Amino acid sequence: MYPAVEINLSKIIENAKSMKKICESQNKTYCLVTKVVSDNKEIVKALVDNGVNCIGESRIENLISYEDIKAEKWLIRIPMLCETQDVVKYSDVSLNSELDVIKALNEAAIKQNKIHKIILMYELGDLREGCSKEELEKIIPQILELSNIKLYGLGTNLSCYGATIPTNENMNELVCVVEELEKKFNFKFELISGGNSSSFKMLKNGELPSRINNLRVGESIFLGNVPCFEEPILEFNRNNFILKTQIIELKEKASVPRRKALCRFFWKNTNICR
Ligand SMILES: Cc1ncc(COP(=O)(O)O)c(C=O)c1O
Repeated sequence: MYPAVEINLSKIIENAKSMKKICESQNKTYCLVTKVVSDNKEIVKALVDNGVNCIGESRIENLISYEDIKAEKWLIRIPMLCETQDVVKYSDVSLNSELDVIKALNEAAIKQNKIHKIILMYELGDLREGCSKEELEKIIPQILELSNIKLYGLGTNLSCYGATIPTNENMNELVCVVEELEKKFNFKFELISGGNSSSFKMLKNGELPSRINNLRVGESIFLGNVPCFEEPILEFNRNNFILKTQIIELKEKASVPRRKALCRFFWKNTNICR
């Protein structure tokens, strides 16, 4: 039946295994961001059965659907206040930057008798999410007081909203912030999540600082690409998703439509307010 997307699951699994090897050789872990497969449980389960032990999702509905899949589950965006009960119930870890949300997660975790782990996000210039260092200094002492929240790690997100790429400079800045906060508040972050697939080149070249021990990756594994650089990863499988369809019309036509005729037709057949 057409159109159809043919998915080569064994090639994706190979990529996941290759990524694991590269990460392990540098004492790092990765969280596989599965949102691109949009609640395809078969794919996610097959990846977990083949060694992926952490999955990252942006939709709670997908985490609910993956409830019986045995992996650590991360909500890889800041939770909404109205969904904190579900975040605690269906994820082990969430990315956070707002104290009010973290307090609400704590309330939910108390109710559910659970400990919820959070990764605080640091704004490193991409402008999607994250706190400044000054804000982190304000909220960390209050977070450390919360009974059912574990301050698990510090993370950053690059190459997303602002296309900021990871560099020696910004990765070292992240590590400096980590070390300053640890010293100031006398505790240790277990996990430093330094970015996404755009960090692949630095990972591969051994250029990520040792303190950065985690990446959250999707595109590199599913598509074999380094986003932002728009480069293929030569040792990874590509063409893992193939759109198959049948051409329903094949003719040579003008490249510009006849605009007057198009407009008259359009306005006569729509109720759009002008
Ligand atoms: C917070 C966060 N981390 C990591 C990723 C994964 O990015 P990529 O697919 O480029 O590896 C995403 C992408 O959706 C994200 O939103």
